[in-house]
Amino acid sequence: MKTQELDQLETHLSEHIIGQEEAVKETAEILRIGEMGMAEKTRPKGSFLYLGATGVGKTELAVCFTRYLFGDDNLIRLDMSEFQHPDSIYQFLGTSERQGVFQQLLEKTNGQGTILFDEIEKAHPPILDLLLQILDNGRLTLTDGTILDLTAYYIVLTSNIASKAIVKARQQSGAALRRFVENQAQQILRPELFARIDSVQVFNKLTWENLQKIARKLMEQEVKRLKNAGFTFAETPKVENILLSNDWNLNLGVRPMKRMTHRYLCGQIRI
Ligand SMILES: Nc1ncnc2c1ncn2[C@@H]1O[C@H](COP(=O)(O)OP(=O)(O)O)[C@@H](O)[C@H]1O
Ligand SMILES: [Mg+2]
Repeated sequence: MKTQELDQLETHLSEHIIGQEEAVKETAEILRIGEMGMAEKTRPKGSFLYLGATGVGKTELAVCFTRYLFGDDNLIRLDMSEFQHPDSIYQFLGTSERQGVFQQLLEKTNGQGTILFDEIEKAHPPILDLLLQILDNGRLTLTDGTILDLTAYYIVLTSNIASKAIVKARQQSGAALRRFVENQAQQILRPELFARIDSVQVFNKLTWENLQKIARKLMEQEVKRLKNAGFTFAETPKVENILLSNDWNLNLGVRPMKRMTHRYLCGQIRI
């Protein structure tokens, strides 16, 4: 990675992730340390825990920085809701007969990238214990004794753990909300896990201004994409049709607005 590209990293991330300035800044700082080779060599290049309500950009930030640094193929995304059952540990680590999901995915990368453990609160707890080893030594020991080296990867954990409480909290952001969410999370996740993470970030609740900005960008981007694909519209799509037509519940994050935009654009396409 060239220094110039690294200099642009924070700007790039803040153009894509709206209303999460602090999480973006902190993340960019740790990525710079990692990319400049200054992280401890015996641990992952950097580790993050992203906490917050649903649909506020946690997963998207991990996707966005990975794409920027390593391209599309180097993100390993593990949806932890798929590892809820006690047998999930074998699915994850493999057995003597069968390769596990983790190794399969790791082999698809070019030896570096990001490992995203998405919505960790949903995982069968022993799977979370594997994270201790990963974060401590940058290694993972599989069922058959194979040791995977993860020191060239970033580790991102996301959780909606305190979602309900965040929604109820009066603060949109700031130190008080942060303390509150971290406290909630520490009651559910192990303190050892917290102690090993380089950066714990609490994502803000989105404001109406944030949602409008995201809606405009999304509309622009999707209209461009559809036009490039050869579609034409009955009339010029207007973002106001989305923003004015609904009593948006900001507690639900961006997803409902995104769904509505897609439905609206489909309806506008001239067939
Ligand atoms: N702060 C944000 N800035 C820009 N887009 C966002 C933001 N938050 C959410 N989105 C959009 O909404 C979708 C869902 O966000 P995601 O990051 O998956 O939510 P979560 O916080 O639940 O992980 C993403 O695809 C992204 O396009
Ligand atoms: Mg997510």
